[in-house]
Amino acid sequence: MTNQDKIKQLIDLRAEAKLGGGLKRIEAQHEKGKLTARERIEKLLDDGSFEEYDMFVTHRCTNFGLDKQKFLGDGVITGQGTIDGRIVFVFAQDFTVFGGSLSETFAQKICKIMDMAMKVGAPVIGINDSGGARIQEGVTSLAGYAEIFQRNILASGVIPQISAIFGPCAGGAVYSPALTDFIIMSEQNSYMFVTGPKVVKTVTGEDITTEELGGADVHASKSGVAHFKVESEEEGLMIIRKLLSYLPQNNLEEPPITECNDPIDRKEDALNSIIPDNPNLPYDIHDVIHLIVDYGEFLEVHSNYAKNIVVGFAKLNGYPVAIIANQPNYLAGVLDIEASRKAARFVRFADAFNIPILTLVDVPGFLPGSGQEYGGIIIHGAKLLYAYGEATVPKITVTLRKSYGGAHDVMSCKQLRGDLNYAWPTAEIAVMGAKGAIEVLESRKIQEIADPEERAKFIREKEAEYREKFANPYQAASYGYIDDVIEPRNTRFRVIRGFEMLQTKKQVNPPKKHGNIPL
Ligand code: HXC
Repeated sequence: MTNQDKIKQLIDLRAEAKLGGGLKRIEAQHEKGKLTARERIEKLLDDGSFEEYDMFVTHRCTNFGLDKQKFLGDGVITGQGTIDGRIVFVFAQDFTVFGGSLSETFAQKICKIMDMAMKVGAPVIGINDSGGARIQEGVTSLAGYAEIFQRNILASGVIPQISAIFGPCAGGAVYSPALTDFIIMSEQNSYMFVTGPKVVKTVTGEDITTEELGGADVHASKSGVAHFKVESEEEGLMIIRKLLSYLPQNNLEEPPITECNDPIDRKEDALNSIIPDNPNLPYDIHDVIHLIVDYGEFLEVHSNYAKNIVVGFAKLNGYPVAIIANQPNYLAGVLDIEASRKAARFVRFADAFNIPILTLVDVPGFLPGSGQEYGGIIIHGAKLLYAYGEATVPKITVTLRKSYGGAHDVMSCKQLRGDLNYAWPTAEIAVMGAKGAIEVLESRKIQEIADPEERAKFIREKEAEYREKFANPYQAASYGYIDDVIEPRNTRFRVIRGFEMLQTKKQVNPPKKHGNIPL
């Protein structure tokens, strides 16, 4: 073979690898409305930035005649590239090769880029579209999954890990995405479950479709497994790019700062009138967030799950912040099991990656009832408490309206090391709301009043008295639990100035192997 022949051989091999499982299977992928693994990578990364690894890897399995069926790359495309000029590592499972099923060598390819990502401190993005363990390989495939899980675990809190699910993801295979920081699912074609509809039918007798069991809708709204549900794969890939624009490359870096032309002292008169006079009327916390942050841009995470708390990323004077806010528009913003879990995980993510936390409080308390108690609201509520108390990033809390009882403590209060705690004049910081308080404090007197009108008048008066005394921010401010009562329209300026001051904050927790968060 001449040297020219050798170069031609390389070009031919590359072309072969790029075809994956062949044109027919590529067409079948397109017919399902799916992109191929290579197309996904191309759309995800900056133009021309992809450097592929292990294009010539093939499996070593000889079972079931597999030795006669080999595809260059073995069903997963791996490598590095850039997003907005910053290095990321990526793997994309190629459904056109053995249905994207995972073999020993397939797993080794993924592990190689994960190891490299840890060495250089850069995010890993995994695009999942796979029939699971490669059946012909048996236990080496299971070992391969475990090798990946172990790396997911060690990388957790060190580098951001993002999973897109653009096809099947079933059985134990779901646990790698589950160990990552964010899961994006496409509405069509994607599903995740530990056991599929057939097994469900056999074991429990339940008739259920793939979509109902583990589709994007279900995971984005019911289980909370998926952080983002997207209409198209393109939208999912754009969300990954957007998400990374708020994140540092690793836990030793600060998040990326961008130029900001939105005036930091922008006053928003609308905020002065956003809280209704009637404390029982709702408003949309999104409106508050949009008026405070740079250009009104907010990337909401888990927007369809536990809507009573809103979490997401925004920028303040070009600096990324994580926002956690009660949503009075949904279940009155009450804290329940799902809201506590959602917010706790988000707070811990932000803290792990040095992203300051802005908390907007309007919470009537924890949701009462046997459903919540039996479900373990004690443990789940404690997660959020733990997450806030453990977090050492700059934390600013603004209480807009209600802040009652245990929920007051949980939502980043002063004693949980809130760095700056502000309140609007409309804040009501107390042990409980007026109605509940009067029912407890005046129960005997209420029972003694026989005339219903007299009784209602008495309750009204007592509640007004209670409200006058406690439903305001000044008692908390008199103890220094609130650092200042601020005019709502100035909120953007005050929190930006606060975070500027806190840029040099240093706080460390006591040395330990790890805490024992109430899981
Ligand atoms: C080997 C597989 C495969 C697998 C699919 N293929 N899954 N090859 N191992 N797990 C191959 C098919 O033989 C076919 O090859 C090609 O991929 C496309 O598959 P189709 O069935 O034609 O595609 P489709 O109709 O779209 O159905 C996709 C599917 C189905 C729903 C994923 O293929 C399926 O049910 N696969 C098996 C899923 C499974 O039981 N996996 C093991 C789960 S246990 P050709 O040559 O025709 O293109 C597991 C344990 C992990 O994963 C544990 C981790 C701890």
